[in-house]
Amino acid sequence: MSESGTLGLEGRTIIITGAARGIGLAAVERFAAERCRILAFDLDGSDFKGVKEIAARTHGEVVTIVGDVSREADWGRAMDTALNDWGRVDVLFNNAGISGPTLDVTRYPVDAFDRVIDVNVRGVFLGMKYAAQHMKTRGSGVIINVSSISGSRGGGNIFGYTASKHAVNGMTQSAAVSLARHGVRVVAVCPCPTGTEMMYELERRVSPHDPAAARPGLAAGIPMKRYGEPHEIINLVAFLASDQAAFMTGALVPVDGGCLAD
Ligand SMILES: NC(=O)c1ccc[n+]([C@@H]2O[C@H](COP(=O)([O-])OP(=O)(O)OC[C@H]3O[C@@H](n4cnc5c(N)ncnc54)[C@H](O)[C@@H]3O)[C@@H](O)[C@H]2O)c1
Repeated sequence: MSESGTLGLEGRTIIITGAARGIGLAAVERFAAERCRILAFDLDGSDFKGVKEIAARTHGEVVTIVGDVSREADWGRAMDTALNDWGRVDVLFNNAGISGPTLDVTRYPVDAFDRVIDVNVRGVFLGMKYAAQHMKTRGSGVIINVSSISGSRGGGNIFGYTASKHAVNGMTQSAAVSLARHGVRVVAVCPCPTGTEMMYELERRVSPHDPAAARPGLAAGIPMKRYGEPHEIINLVAFLASDQAAFMTGALVPVDGGCLAD
């Protein structure tokens, strides 16, 4: 904690991808409460309702941009917007991701694999590349990638997702090593199933007539026997974004109700 008893994030500028809902929207809420200036970046412009409500409550410290993280031009636009508005980007929360099909390697469609890799790997890479070019010049910055417990285990029936999150872990550590001497930290958070549309959609796939009935089964492998909540992931993200985590880089930090310990 800083001397004022907060994380000391006030005035920091942050790009949040996948900001329209779920873990990204929880990040908008938290960083707005920390009095940060936020660029909320999402594919789905129709769904910026929650972001706009937060912006209204926090006197417009949030700007929105509709774009696809897998498109390089959209990253150029996001960085230009942030730099024109604020002159700097302190934090990138590289959160946007998709789950793809729940299928094993033998049945996984090639086009679905390509899309999962495009969003979850290429999108995270492009965000790091664009943000790090700027942060390296300034000599400071923090990049927080969203991985998963699937980044370090098999996940036999989510082949593409598992591949993509292993790549996020590798990219995080590679970038952390190369950027350490430039004052830029790169870390990843690794959640277990978390209560967002990503899991609710999986529940509908598993049990179309009674999605909630699928939840105990999906949570059974979590030692705490429940999903994480988006704000529980963001408590860790806020700490990692702050100077309290100044000696942390290259870390892949589980926030998973004990999954990876099991
Ligand atoms: N929910 C979970 O159980 C869980 C567990 C571990 C890791 N994660 C990871 O957390 C991150 C956020 O997931 P969530 O649970 O909030 O999911 P979600 O589906 O609720 O929200 C994802 C957001 O990302 C946006 N998005 C998707 N593709 C995009 C693209 N190409 N460009 C820009 N925005 C795009 C969506 O429009 C949506 O607003 C993902 O990286 C996911 O893999 C989630």
